[in-house]
Amino acid sequence: MKEKVLILDFGSQVTQLIARRVRESGVYSEVKPYNISLREIRDFRPNAIILSGGPASVAEKFSPNIPVEIFDLDVPVLGICYGQQLMCKLLGGKVMPGKKREFGRAFINIKEDSKLFSGTWKKNENIAREVWMSHGDKVVVMPKGFEVLAWTDGAPFAVIANESKKLYGIQFHPEVAHTPDGAALLKNFTHKIAGISGEWNMRAFLEESIKKIRSQAGKSKVICAVSGGVDSSVVALLLHKAIGNQVKCIFVDHGLLRLDEGKKVRKMFKENFHMPIEYIDAADLFLKKLKGVTDPEKKRKIIGATFIEVFEREAKKFSDASFLAQGTLYPDVIESVSAHGGPSATIKSHHNVGGLPARMKMKLIEPVRDLFKDEVRKLGLELGMSEDMVYRHPFPGPGLAIRIPGEISKEKLLILRAADDIYMQELKNHGFYRKIWQAYAALLPVKTVGVMGDSRSYDYICSLRAVTSTDGMTADFFDFPHSFLSLVSNRIVGEVKGINRVLYDVTGKPPATIELE
Ligand code: XMP
Repeated sequence: MKEKVLILDFGSQVTQLIARRVRESGVYSEVKPYNISLREIRDFRPNAIILSGGPASVAEKFSPNIPVEIFDLDVPVLGICYGQQLMCKLLGGKVMPGKKREFGRAFINIKEDSKLFSGTWKKNENIAREVWMSHGDKVVVMPKGFEVLAWTDGAPFAVIANESKKLYGIQFHPEVAHTPDGAALLKNFTHKIAGISGEWNMRAFLEESIKKIRSQAGKSKVICAVSGGVDSSVVALLLHKAIGNQVKCIFVDHGLLRLDEGKKVRKMFKENFHMPIEYIDAADLFLKKLKGVTDPEKKRKIIGATFIEVFEREAKKFSDASFLAQGTLYPDVIESVSAHGGPSATIKSHHNVGGLPARMKMKLIEPVRDLFKDEVRKLGLELGMSEDMVYRHPFPGPGLAIRIPGEISKEKLLILRAADDIYMQELKNHGFYRKIWQAYAALLPVKTVGVMGDSRSYDYICSLRAVTSTDGMTADFFDFPHSFLSLVSNRIVGEVKGINRVLYDVTGKPPATIELE
């Protein structure tokens, strides 16, 4: 990669968003831990460096630090939040520990015009410009050679710079969506200040990934778990492209997929990509293990453990493999930090991260670990997957089992699949499917009375859900026209035996979650 940005990570929850914004502007970027050596930084040959935010305080004795020589590499540096404070401290400015955290929206005032603001902010304009603050400490004295470019009521040094040395410090977070002009500022930094041309795209990522996978795997064999979903399919195709027959793909079908999904995925691999995959139909085993189980977490654990059991058994046939490939995405990584004993409460244990590799004592290849869902989709298209396959909504590892609260059964699964399929058809027919992050039908284990023709019915309730979201971490319900809901309800009740009532879920996340369990 000719032109690239190095992002040094000081542990902020949103560091990856910086990488994402930079990539969106057509610039290759990599996130590395803050404590890599000066030599590694030099060897990376960055065209620009961004110092991320982080939870520490520069006032603490052992707070994350970097060699001051970074600022003499003749490479533009942008410090964000903790990055700004550290830059100031190292260059002779002063940072005060904050008595209380400033968190949330602030309005920026522009003091000087700058290349950093090009095309967005201007001195003396009378427009309220929002930025997102989240910090405790703040700069109180700037290093020599720096000037204030912009300020807010709470942060007099909101944007500072030594323009001749191309060093910039921002107190707020330009990488988050709550700073509407943030992406433009980052783009100005990489394009206008660092002079990067911005020609990088998913094709370049693909080429780079192929090289990385080849060098990581060498001549070793790699096993890849295919779940039927978009992410693992993309990983399987990527590996196949990189190392051909060195990869063995195992598709464990737990029988909890949407209507005909297993078939479609197998067909795609076989017919479109001429790629052999080992297909294991384990539906009966999963059903047997889930019999009588009603607790959501127990269901997840059983599905996770059974998946591992089946997968391990199949993988033994490829005993010469030393790598395991997984379709872990960036949001999985963040959410599973809390799910595996981190500081925040366990909401749900997402079984698709962890577990498998530890048991199998294999080295991991996670080629899309730094990507968000929409980036994985772009990669899928680049690899030749059809739009229909790539733009499928996210689907949870435990599948339909968590869309049937309580005990699942073959009968309930059949009913749910039929209802869900009608819902999906209509979403596509009406052009809603691509506007929605995730939609599904669920089967509530409650029977209610209805009238069908002249007779009384006593059947299940189907609940429909559709949410908009950017990453699945927060979500809003989708505002369908009532006529659409009524059409879907009529079709489901009319065509699916076993359902006589349809509800639409209008709860956001939070307070609800996207799935029912
Ligand atoms: P929730 O229900 O937690 O869902 O709001 C957020 C996103 O995660 C998916 N999800 C899962 N994915 N294993 C997975 O692989 C799981 O156990 C699981 N639970 C939820 C969910 O479909 C949504 O996209």
